[in-house]
Amino acid sequence: MPRSIIRVRGTLLLGDDSDSVFHAANIIQSGGLVAFPTETVYGLGAAATDAGAINKIFLAKGRPSDNPLIVHIASLTQLEVIVKEIPDEALMLAEKFWPGPLSLVLPRSKFIPAEVSAGLPTVAVRMPDHRVALDLIRISGLPIAAPSANRSGSPSPTSYYHVLDDLSGRIDAVIRSDSCRIGIESTVLDLSGSRPVILRPGGVSRESLEEALDCRVSVSGFKKITGAPRSPGMKYRHYSPRAPLILIAGPESRRILVIEAIVSKYESRGLKVGLLSSLMLNRGSARIKPQQLAAKLYQALRQMDDEGVHLIIAEETEIYGLGLAVMNRLRKAAIRVLKV
Ligand code: TXA
Ligand code: MG
Repeated sequence: MPRSIIRVRGTLLLGDDSDSVFHAANIIQSGGLVAFPTETVYGLGAAATDAGAINKIFLAKGRPSDNPLIVHIASLTQLEVIVKEIPDEALMLAEKFWPGPLSLVLPRSKFIPAEVSAGLPTVAVRMPDHRVALDLIRISGLPIAAPSANRSGSPSPTSYYHVLDDLSGRIDAVIRSDSCRIGIESTVLDLSGSRPVILRPGGVSRESLEEALDCRVSVSGFKKITGAPRSPGMKYRHYSPRAPLILIAGPESRRILVIEAIVSKYESRGLKVGLLSSLMLNRGSARIKPQQLAAKLYQALRQMDDEGVHLIIAEETEIYGLGLAVMNRLRKAAIRVLKV
């Protein structure tokens, strides 16, 4: 049992020392929910082999039951147990990118209940690159299913206090540790079909996957913003702050003019605007790289909500490297994409 016991609305706040991680592993083994850090975002973990525990994840998050979970492992032996077969390219990618932010979608074995994969015949699996996450999996001796540890629809948590804001009182424990280094979720790569397809861009870039696989890799559902000046909000909002977010796309000089116009209109009415751009996040001195933008994205969205802004304006960013993942999240968070 860990030495100090702190609870926040009933949720146990654990440290990342070995006693605490042992305690967290006990909770997982007995069918409970523990939020833990990974290098991407905080995950909400439960034993991947326990359908009852998996159902608790969906309840705690308010997650639609048709959205499958990623299973986290700490060894290739665990991979052999949870998937039916391991194609050569999966093994090659695992060796190159694990532990790391790449989830592979493969045929699911009978050891993983259908609830984990929302009834799909496949399972998404990854080995996280974080000491605490790996220790938790090893000590519990179980693969751990974990979506991001936020209420469904909100920005993903990159710190334990984001998890408490969303889920305290709804989960058994959260492990307090370093913030998440990458700050945006893993790339989900489907290897169950005839060609590899990125289902969700993330921490491993499309370019590095193409280099490793030596072929073009398509990104499902990602189209360039062109044509009509406005596109309505995506089918459903996701990664969204409470304040409405507008994404401004188009040439830089025009973007800046439009942003200035919106900001002055809002400010003249006494309303607060939050700006999310690779320039603003660097206090206007130079644009930061997509990788740094990704690391700050969710933290910045949550902070703007805490400050009570009435509108968030985000700027389009380059879609190379982690920029592709950033643009994917911004489009889903936006109520409107304004092409200028
Ligand atoms: O970095 C991450 O991926 C984080 C950390 C905690 O590992 N997890 C995460 O999980 O972002 P979640 O549940 O928020 O997102 C999982 C994504 C969803 O888009 C889901 O639809 C997709 O992975 N996914 C999971 N299993 C799948 C499957 N069998 N087939 C297709 N897509 C799947
Ligand atoms: Mg999520």
